[in-house]
Order: sequence, then C-alpha cells, then structure tokens
Amino acid sequence: MSVELPKTEQRREARSTVVPGGTDDLFDGPKSDVLRERLDAGLAAVETRLRAEVQYADEIADVTARYLLNAGGKRLRPMLTVLASQFGETPGSDDVITAAAAVELTHLASLYHDDVMDEAELRRGVAAAHLQWGNSIAILAGDLLFARSSLLFSELGLRAVRLQATIFERLVLGQMRETTGPAPDADRIDHYVGVLADKTGSLISAAAQFGAIISNAPEAVVAALAEYGERVGVAFQLADDVIDLQQNPATTGKLAGTDLRAGVETLPVLLLERQAATDEASRDLLERIRTRVAGVNEQPEETRASEEEISGIITELREHRVTQLTVDEAQNWVTLAVEALRPLKAGPAKNALERFAAEVVSRDR
Ligand code: FPP
Ligand code: MG
Repeated sequence: MSVELPKTEQRREARSTVVPGGTDDLFDGPKSDVLRERLDAGLAAVETRLRAEVQYADEIADVTARYLLNAGGKRLRPMLTVLASQFGETPGSDDVITAAAAVELTHLASLYHDDVMDEAELRRGVAAAHLQWGNSIAILAGDLLFARSSLLFSELGLRAVRLQATIFERLVLGQMRETTGPAPDADRIDHYVGVLADKTGSLISAAAQFGAIISNAPEAVVAALAEYGERVGVAFQLADDVIDLQQNPATTGKLAGTDLRAGVETLPVLLLERQAATDEASRDLLERIRTRVAGVNEQPEETRASEEEISGIITELREHRVTQLTVDEAQNWVTLAVEALRPLKAGPAKNALERFAAEVVSRDR
C-alpha cells in the first residue's frame, strides 16, 4: 500500500475532454449555437461545483476523494442532465447544476467500489485507487463521495432524494446480481442485460430525469427521458464490453480484458458460449478464456498464463464475430433509445440527444 500522490504528469495525460470528440459532435450547425453555449456554460459550472464540493480538511480524505475526479472522465451524466433541462422552464439553473454534480459524484463513488470488486488496475488512465491506498481507503473514499452526493440531493427536495435512493438501490442490486450470476434455469443473456440496465442504465436514466424534473419539464418529458436514459445505459455498457477488448490502455484508460480477467462474462463471451454448442473453434476459445484468463490474478504465478498468451486470447475474441454481434446489439439499443424520444419537441436539444446516444456506442474510451 502506498500513500504517495500519483505523478502530476500521469494525471495531466489522463485528463480528457468532456465527451469523446468534445461536445461539438452533439450539434448540427448554426441553429445549435445557443444550445452549444448553454451546454458548455453548464458543464463548466458543474466542473466548478464538483471541485468546490470535493474538498476535505483531512488530507487523506481530500487526496483520495479528489483522485478520480482529477483523473478526467467523460462527464456524460452531467451533460445529459444539463441537456435534459433544456426541455424545462429553467434550463441550466443553479439547481440543475447541483443535480448534475450530484449525479457525477454518485457515479464517481461507484467507480471506487467497482474497481475494488473488479480488482481493476487502471481507471481513467491512472492506477486504480485501491492499488494506491488499499481496499479500505478506496471504499471509504467512495463512501465520502456518495455522502456528498446525498447532501447535494437533499438541497433539491424529497423527490430528488427518493430518486437518488432508488437508483442507489438499483446500482447495488445490479452489482450484486452480476457478482452472484444468473439462477441455473435463467437465460444468461437476459440476466446480463438486466444487470446492465440496473448497474448503468439506472444512473444514466436518473441523470436525464433529474434535468427534466429540476427544470420543471412536463411529466411526459420526464417519462420519455427516463426510458431514453435506461436504453442509452445498456448501449453504453455493451459498447464497454467491446472497449474492454481493445489493446490500447492509453486511449481507453483501462487494461485490456479487465472484465475477462475478473471473470465477468460480458456479452461477447455469452454469445461465444451460445456458438460453442455447435462450433468447435468457439468452444476452444471459450475454454481458454475460462481457464487461462478468468481469475488470472488469483492463479499461482508458476502456472499463470503469460501476458502474451492473455493478449492473444483477447485478440481472438475481439476478432471473433461475436464481438461484431455485440456492436450490433449496442446499436439496437441506441435505436430503441432514440425511439423513446418521440414525445419530445423537435429541435437542437432533441437532435443533440439523438447524437449523444450514437456517440455512446461509437466512442473508443
Ligand atoms: C462499472 O461496471 C460499474 C458500475 C456502473 C456500477 C457499480 C456499482 C456499485 C459498485 C454499487 C454502488 C455504489 C455506490 C457507492 C454508489 P463495469 O465494471 O462493467 O465497467 P468498467 O469497465 O468501467 O469498470
Ligand atoms: Mg469495472
């Protein structure tokens, strides 16, 4: 365990712009200029708020809680909150910024915990917090951020607190169901998609709902955005399954095959399992993933697969057609997300939501 700060250079390199390719990808010409300015101003205000909130007198609390915030991140959820608020009476108000910052803090909190459970090595291009300070401090840093997020939601009234609590429950249940796996008679792919909806769809849906609720948008808008966010979340997580197979930590900020190494059977693996019933090569690859990659960190060093072998297996899976099928499935969820937007008024904000959904699956990190 170490209490050293990560190197400044390492942090600077890891820091990223808000959305892959910047917010520019969300706009479709001069008609969107006002929206672009509002979003940029909103996100700058969220950033200021986040930095003001995540400060503690206790040095270890301060350093650890700010660690992943400083390491970068795409800020997709705050962007969605600010964007969704454009459909209400008070777009980008101070309360909208508070909600956007609080959603991001919930997300950040969950990452500290997730990296402990996944035994992840890299997050946002820096060593995972538990590798710097040990599991206990990493978990407690996540708890601190969750506490601060709850405080912010308490400024926004009972409905906000209730939504936050419901989402927290779903995040935990999703993570728990992922950990325990499906019941023996359950369809493994259905179970998996349910987990994705709980552990990622729920918070992305909440991000969109908060924007609409806090800006006093009509309830039909809140409902449409809730559905949209849930579906975008599933698409996002399926895209993540593919990103997990990219051998490019400098871009992804994560070690290739983190999920596979942790024994998480993502959609490419579940589809491979289906194909293994009738295809010998798929069966062989599945067997090697399960015996050589899954749980590799727990295996004795003498018999453990080399990094070269693991990398070869990850490449085979990435080039197998199950990975393209996963990309197609992510795209199907984007289509469903866009369909959920039907009740929303046409215009630059709706176009931006459509582009946002498309970006989520075309990103490379
Ligand atoms: C990342 O999934 C994990 C999540 C989106 C949710 C994690 C939820 C919890 C740990 C419970 C909630 C806890 C708090 C404090 C709010 P992944 O491992 O598939 O993605 P990755 O590749 O980004 O790690
Ligand atoms: Mg993880």
